[in-house]
Amino acid sequence: MSGIGRIITELIKRRSYVASGLHKDIRTKIILLAAAAALAAAFFCGCGEKSAPEEPELLLGFSQVGSESAWRIGNTRDIEEKAEKYGIDLMLENANQKQENQIDAIRRFIAYKVDVIAFSPIVEEGWDNVLSEAKEAGIPVILVDRDINTKKTGLTACLIGADFYNEGVMAGEYLIRKADALNAEHLNIVEITGTEASTPMLKRQAGFMDTIKDDSRMEVLESINGDFLKSRGAECMRTLLEKYGDKIDVIYSHNDEMTLGALTEIENAGFAPGSDMVIISIDGGQEAIDVLKQGKINCVVECTPMLGGTLMETALKLKAGQQVDELIHPSEGFFSDEQDLTKLAPRGY
Ligand code: AHR
Repeated sequence: MSGIGRIITELIKRRSYVASGLHKDIRTKIILLAAAAALAAAFFCGCGEKSAPEEPELLLGFSQVGSESAWRIGNTRDIEEKAEKYGIDLMLENANQKQENQIDAIRRFIAYKVDVIAFSPIVEEGWDNVLSEAKEAGIPVILVDRDINTKKTGLTACLIGADFYNEGVMAGEYLIRKADALNAEHLNIVEITGTEASTPMLKRQAGFMDTIKDDSRMEVLESINGDFLKSRGAECMRTLLEKYGDKIDVIYSHNDEMTLGALTEIENAGFAPGSDMVIISIDGGQEAIDVLKQGKINCVVECTPMLGGTLMETALKLKAGQQVDELIHPSEGFFSDEQDLTKLAPRGY
């Protein structure tokens, strides 16, 4: 293909995708303008002349789970910022919490012949077909944040995400220390879990349960699914309060959003969160940390959404045909009423 033809094709391919959320007429105008601009640029630069070799580029297709939490919004923002910083073209698709939308997005990335595909799988099962298609097309796939469950090998290059099991362990260890500090003989626990069959839900539950299971003071009354949403966290808490009332001693919630929803219900029911009930959360977003400082949450395990830099570096390595680590965990901390948090830096999400 001629230089001009290639420029036009690339512009249409890449920029029209960015505009894919716009009205069709506007999109068509953008594509035509891009094509006209490319023609003009080619004309003024001298038609037919051999152009200087381009810098190697990377086109990354990323399918995000949705916008269910401050964590998720912070994660999307970080990925957008880091793509810009590393000079990477990003095709970003928001799946609005639906696996079928993620599968469609991955198929579109394959059709666009992106260099690398990345996605945060909403649940672990059901990816074999679409990832086999990516493999056949020779496009490497990076899992971001969450894992998949498959018997097939070689479908993905690596996983960049938190150690969710360890987050559950940290939550359980905090509770054991808290029980000691309270001289508690018995603690009734309710768990509000994240999205059913998602990696953070499965592992945060397993890590927590494995840690407290041999402590005879701990009794789990119920685990209830809050889907990582504030509204569902509130609904779950209402149900739990109706069922168990003041029998509840501890709430272990799999993310800040659900915790914040639950807190309103606890207060509406006349209880003081943080003292009448021990509240344990995960993520470490600013709003939850502020509430922790007010004494209404007792412990927040950190799960960092800042995965964008590692994602971009890994994508560049894969494009260059280099080896990458199969599993990359960011380092993560822990905040609780055992610490002085007055000097804690702004969280950024
Ligand atoms: O997968 C990470 C989890 O998903 C975060 O804890 C939660 O807030 C998000 O929605």
